[in-house]
Amino acid sequence: MTYQTLDTLADLKSATEGKTVLLRGDLNVPVREKKITDSTRIKRLVPTIQELRQKGCRVVLISHFGRPNGKVVPDMSLKVLVPEIEAILGIKILFANDCIGDAVSSAINSMPNGGVALLENLRFHDGEEKNDPAFTAALAKIGDIYVNDAFSAAHRAHASTSGLADLLPAAAGRLMQAELEALEVSVGSAARPVTAIVGGAKVSTKLELLNNLVSKVDRLVIGGAMANTFLYSLNNDVGISLCEYDFADTARAVMVRANEEGCEIVLPSDVLIASELSIGVDCESVKVASIPQDKMILDIGTNSARSLALSLKESRTLLWNGPLGAFEVPPFDSATNMVSRAAAALTKSNGLLTIAGGGDTAAALSSAGVLDDFSYVSTAGGAFLEWLEGKELPGISALENK
Ligand code: 3PG
Repeated sequence: MTYQTLDTLADLKSATEGKTVLLRGDLNVPVREKKITDSTRIKRLVPTIQELRQKGCRVVLISHFGRPNGKVVPDMSLKVLVPEIEAILGIKILFANDCIGDAVSSAINSMPNGGVALLENLRFHDGEEKNDPAFTAALAKIGDIYVNDAFSAAHRAHASTSGLADLLPAAAGRLMQAELEALEVSVGSAARPVTAIVGGAKVSTKLELLNNLVSKVDRLVIGGAMANTFLYSLNNDVGISLCEYDFADTARAVMVRANEEGCEIVLPSDVLIASELSIGVDCESVKVASIPQDKMILDIGTNSARSLALSLKESRTLLWNGPLGAFEVPPFDSATNMVSRAAAALTKSNGLLTIAGGGDTAAALSSAGVLDDFSYVSTAGGAFLEWLEGKELPGISALENK
């Protein structure tokens, strides 16, 4: 894959003083009651922002935030992020109430070299998601150079993720570069044996992923509520667990395909059950054939977690998307904690390549205390999934061969 970086883009090498860089970040961070609950995506943009500032550029942050569908939705204003960005960067930044137009340009032009601005939510304009040429041209007028650091939005062919690369000198930022370098190990060419752990609630949303993985990996471990559908399809009573009964045939078809492809499907042999999902509720580990009708599965069981942790010794690559249980509510984080800690230890001691991604996955690894011990943890959700599905990502293709 060839793309320009901050080291190679000619426009960033010489006479960068006073140039305006449109830096596409993914500032779609989780916010509850106007407070940012996880600022990882902002923090990971810092190396690119600081490097551009040191080169004397004006850095103009552009991003989407939520899904306002082309309308101005005050609750989805990026303004709420200003204090956090200022605290992280340790400087005051300029906020513009729009992302295009002469007023925005002149405000940016009045900033000193090294200044940082944040523009309003790109998705307040419907031209963003439509990759509308007029909107893209208006955005391009704001800057001289386009740097894309939003791998997590690279599965979108929008004006700011794709269109801009055709109008301005374009490069990948440091975060994008790091994601691409980590993910260059394509799913099909990773060191074998490859184990994939896929969790999450629904088979229906991960069908393409499961079908791609069974033809690419050696072992596919299914956890999360998705495993319940598989267990049900094998005639286990799953009590009051979350289960997509209508997808039992689909689950069986995935297992048939895996068998044809020589991929071992690993389902839990025991599960942690309780009568409800709440902190400290009574729970027990039972065999999958003995789930009482009034109980729900909330994690894989202790034996399954232990044997999964042990079996990772046989693998050379681990791809992980989706927690194994309802990890936000202890003790249903037990299996995710145990397995992720084992994977982290093997990354250090055995050279296991551990690549994880997805919002929940990153949060689960963080609460297990191993976020920094994996080989790479992507902050991307949908884009990471599409990468695992083997799809071309428009935001990456747009940067290629520029
Ligand atoms: C994400 O959070 O996965 C990205 O910001 C993409 O957001 P979207 O699904 O609204 O395009």
